[in-house]
Amino acid sequence: MAIQKVLVIGAGQMGSGIAQVCAQAGFDVKLNDRAEEFYARGLATITKNLSRDVEKGRKTEDEKNEILGRITKSLDLSDASDVDIVIEAAVENMEIKQQIFKQLDEITPKHAILATNTSSLPITEIAAVTNRPEQVIGMHFMNPVPVMKLVEIIRGLATSDEVYTEIEEMTKKLSKVPVEVNDFPGFVSNRILMPMINEAIYTLYEGVATKEAIDDVMKLGMNHPMGPLQLADFIGLDTCLYIMEILHDGFGDSKYRPCPLLRKYVKAGWLGKKSGRGFYVYE
Ligand code: CAA
Repeated sequence: MAIQKVLVIGAGQMGSGIAQVCAQAGFDVKLNDRAEEFYARGLATITKNLSRDVEKGRKTEDEKNEILGRITKSLDLSDASDVDIVIEAAVENMEIKQQIFKQLDEITPKHAILATNTSSLPITEIAAVTNRPEQVIGMHFMNPVPVMKLVEIIRGLATSDEVYTEIEEMTKKLSKVPVEVNDFPGFVSNRILMPMINEAIYTLYEGVATKEAIDDVMKLGMNHPMGPLQLADFIGLDTCLYIMEILHDGFGDSKYRPCPLLRKYVKAGWLGKKSGRGFYVYE
């Protein structure tokens, strides 16, 4: 089966990025969110990204319009009734995801693949609420989606080889690099990234160095494009804490305990770039 019609759930930072790269690769995309304003914000981000590509000479105005023309608005999950794949990028909450997947299982055609962009929730547990667990898979894009090359493809316990292969091919069509991973807490990306960020927060908490010094060590010494504290602000401190909790619960190992300073910042509402303040202050 050739995948042609895609429905992306969630027009936030990740969902809009996923819709953009799918439309750029020639897929027909429905971008779904709960309300008009969320869809409009997502579409505005996509339009801004494409306009920058035009300014920089990477795309023509016609190409930009063709890409935008492949994206249609969806405010109702019933729009999934004729798609080949759904890529879900809604909030990171198991109950909400399971509710969505239950509905999708009823709405979508039998052949449709149900993918989730979750960064850490178990694919197997999401798949278990459907009658097609072999067609449920994780497709974990990195932020910012239009720039980052990786898609971590996560096999649930029941995911079939055929579905894995289709997703691997689709990922390549998106000009991304697929990497195969099994379904364990944090997969590979966040199992390694989040403890590094958490350790950087401990380093600050224990007064070993200033935030700027910690970030400089990792940027200049290890060639990371962003220091770990700047990256934590970029990802969102609430998301970092949430993923550390999943690692801590999932492995039951104290090496994953979230730093008290991270908890304190989240309780204060200092969530990073999106709230205007995290380890750094944003205008
Ligand atoms: N959308 C689209 N394009 C973007 C963008 C965005 N949000 N942000 C930056 N870009 C583009 C810019 O347009 C620019 O392209 P051109 O120069 O060709 O115009 C290019 O990316 C570089 O941007 P900048 O020059 O502004 O800044 P930079 O060189 O610092 O790059 C960055 C920005 C790509 C974000 C870089 O800092 C970086 O790679 N940071 C680390 C990102 C990272 O680690 N992401 C993974 C986060 S973890 C995750 O996503 C998984 C999870 O589950 C938590």
